[in-house]
Amino acid sequence: MQLHEKIFELALKRSFFFPSNEPYGGIGGFYDYGPVGVLIKHKIENLWKTMFIKSEGFHEVETSIITPEPVLEASGHVASFGDPIVECTKCKTTVRADTFVEEVHYKMHGERWDGKLESLDKTIEESKIKCPKCKGDFGPTFMFNLMFKTGIGGNRLPAYARPETAQGIFTAFPRLFKNHGTKLPMAIGQVGRSYRNEISPRKGLVRMREFTQMELEYFFDPESDGFEKFGKVAAEKMKIGINNKKVELNAKELVEKKLAPNEIMAYFLVREWEFYKKVGIKIEQMYFRVLDANEIPHYSKGNIDMEVETSFGLVETIGNAYRTDFDLSQHTKVSGKDLSVFVENRRIMPHVVEVSMGVDRLFFCILEHCYRDKTKEKDWEWFDFPPIIAPYHVAVFPLMKKDGLDEKAKEIADRLRECGLDVAYRDSGSIGRRYARNDEIGVPYALTIDYDTLEKDTVTIRYRNDGKQERIKISECETVIKDNIMKGKVAI
Ligand code: GLY
Repeated sequence: MQLHEKIFELALKRSFFFPSNEPYGGIGGFYDYGPVGVLIKHKIENLWKTMFIKSEGFHEVETSIITPEPVLEASGHVASFGDPIVECTKCKTTVRADTFVEEVHYKMHGERWDGKLESLDKTIEESKIKCPKCKGDFGPTFMFNLMFKTGIGGNRLPAYARPETAQGIFTAFPRLFKNHGTKLPMAIGQVGRSYRNEISPRKGLVRMREFTQMELEYFFDPESDGFEKFGKVAAEKMKIGINNKKVELNAKELVEKKLAPNEIMAYFLVREWEFYKKVGIKIEQMYFRVLDANEIPHYSKGNIDMEVETSFGLVETIGNAYRTDFDLSQHTKVSGKDLSVFVENRRIMPHVVEVSMGVDRLFFCILEHCYRDKTKEKDWEWFDFPPIIAPYHVAVFPLMKKDGLDEKAKEIADRLRECGLDVAYRDSGSIGRRYARNDEIGVPYALTIDYDTLEKDTVTIRYRNDGKQERIKISECETVIKDNIMKGKVAI
């Protein structure tokens, strides 16, 4: 069984996530988060907000999902936001050509396909790539627009479910700029759902039709593309992929070698590296890839992606793009409203560096990287989540549901909740089963309340990773748990 299959089984068993609309067969590319999954997902989003918005003094917005067609004509999505598709001439199965060719080509030749859309047909022919279902021949590649179309007010106004959260930030730019005090730089973030009508999504949370993005748009004067805090991160090293080779470079070197278009992007790469380590991605299985000119999106003048190794292969989880003034200029042209601004006695169109992360893909990568198989000591699978993203920090279990043990356990659980800890309470099943279940959803600590608790005011604390147990005083619980979380170098 492949790791992603094990993860899917556990996800269903413990309600991390499951297919949407299951009684109707569940349509590919749509997943619901269950009670445990949603806690983890929100913790990932909250940590992102802390690191990429609050600690930087940036702003956050929440903009509309349904977007009128002219906005997306201006952004280029109506004309160019598509995937190359091939159809089998025999059984009519359609697959996304670039990712399929990438996968098959890598398996056949041990190296990446050249990534050029115009060479897809040639690669399919030369490498004799056939239909995965019936081994039939593919017809020629064609483009398929990925947006979900709808109509506003009885279809009078054509519109789409947004393909990225970014456009809402660009169209709100003049108002946000005024609120910010008409000065640059200014950065605006947004966490929200986006939609892409993938032709044949096959990889669970990795390729969804409705998904959550965490995006940050950093607006700046193109004549001052330095970053105030860059000096603090200049020496931070990251693994960088360039032309199929991986090297270790620091942020300063990235800018000097012109691999990152400016200090702004290099600064955010350092923050992303740090964020990924905090949420439990294995450092040896992640790297930044500098995209070739032929791979970058239509709006960008330089992209660096984060790629993470998973059992599905490499998964792109972050896109950093130097969007220049592309979007603001386009919206000026199409809307007829001038989005340029007056700064430093000059009228300019601000430039933008974008950080765009997918939450669901990251969630999946965390599950794979934190998964631990059964061992002699532990006869169940479990997750080694960093406490910062574990669904709960601690679980509280009364040994029995009688003799006042349950009341005492509830009282302790409530007290810990008041101290800011996320606490699960469970009183059914054997203690062993409850420990196992706790490990399966990655809760780092468990407290058991027994008869000694009533007499001596002590509880048993059990540590998820090594199963070690200790007796501590009730009054010490908060400090011990918080200290252990800090020892793991992860703040609450
Ligand atoms: N905003 C970039 C993207 O969604 O791909």
